[in-house]
Amino acid sequence: MKKSWNFGINKILISEADLSKRIKELGAQITNDYKNSEKPLIIVCLLKGSILFMSDLCREIKLPLKMDFLSVSSYGDGFSSSGEVKILKELDETIMGKDVLIVEDIIDTGRTLDKIISILSIREPNSLKIVSLLDKPSRREVEMEGDYIGFIIPNEFVIGYGLDYKQEYRNIPYIGVMGSDI
Ligand code: IMP
Ligand code: MG
Repeated sequence: MKKSWNFGINKILISEADLSKRIKELGAQITNDYKNSEKPLIIVCLLKGSILFMSDLCREIKLPLKMDFLSVSSYGDGFSSSGEVKILKELDETIMGKDVLIVEDIIDTGRTLDKIISILSIREPNSLKIVSLLDKPSRREVEMEGDYIGFIIPNEFVIGYGLDYKQEYRNIPYIGVMGSDI
């Protein structure tokens, strides 16, 4: 039999209502922090995990902004990234002199963002900040801190709301903890 869309999700860690409430708060905070910027904010969505977060967050940022997309491959085993990063899809626009906000789904070991930061910072943006929906600080292997964090979570593998296991489960509308029977 075909499995259900939420097959193997053990429990709901963050509900749709809690996601929505926190994203409104993050949007308000970001709106306030960038309100005096002269140029439109450049939101860089890291594909694919951040697309749901990005699409909800950007509607809560009440400022002129542009969206761009960056896709990197990080070779891993499905549970974590190796930190070896290759660019699969480049940004469309130059970021020199712009205010850039990277939108990430989760900071885990910190290796992916560490590489992305070094790739983007040599392009000399006016500012470069990170917003991450989730943060698992207990898993950190390199020093990495988000400027805006939605939720700090324990060391559990989570799926849904953009986050995948082997490319599935991104369409689950909440953040769930993955069970061992997947
Ligand atoms: P890092 O380089 O270890 O910080 O890994 C970041 C990337 O690993 C995220 O953008 C996710 O794609 C993936 N990742 C880390 N933890 C999880 C998780 O609990 N669920 C799903 N993906 C995860
Ligand atoms: Mg992933």
